[in-house]
Amino acid sequence: MPTTAIALASDHAGFEQKQQLAAWLAQEGFEVRDLGPATDARVDYPDYAAQVAREVTSGAAQRGVLVCGTGIGMAIAANKIPGVRAANITSPQFAALAREHNDANVIALSGRFVSLETNKQILTSFLSTPFGEGRHADRVAKIGALE
Ligand code: RB5
Repeated sequence: MPTTAIALASDHAGFEQKQQLAAWLAQEGFEVRDLGPATDARVDYPDYAAQVAREVTSGAAQRGVLVCGTGIGMAIAANKIPGVRAANITSPQFAALAREHNDANVIALSGRFVSLETNKQILTSFLSTPFGEGRHADRVAKIGALE
């Protein structure tokens, strides 16, 4: 798998799964850049989405993983950072399509409505599926042109 560094963060609602996923990703051989939070105290998800998004666009990480209650707020916030294509994903199949068709570089997961086991399967799919290139590249370029 070419991806090596993964920037990871959550809010309080995603904290528990973020901790579990960080340990699991490290076991799987990835360099995990855990950007917090360090406890489950209440925080605001846009602050963490922005940090992960900037790690990815700076090149410090090849992929970003965000966990909040639904993943929705994290995805909305991360997509405000130019160069980020964040997808809120709840199934392994959509994770593969987000990579293959959309070249998603950040994934936003639900810590409250999706199990840890399913989120691991989603991440496996997200981190192992290459971009499809070809016709998809033209469309992704048009997304970039909207920024
Ligand atoms: C926090 O209560 C919740 O709003 C947040 O985790 C997330 O689900 C937002 O999209």
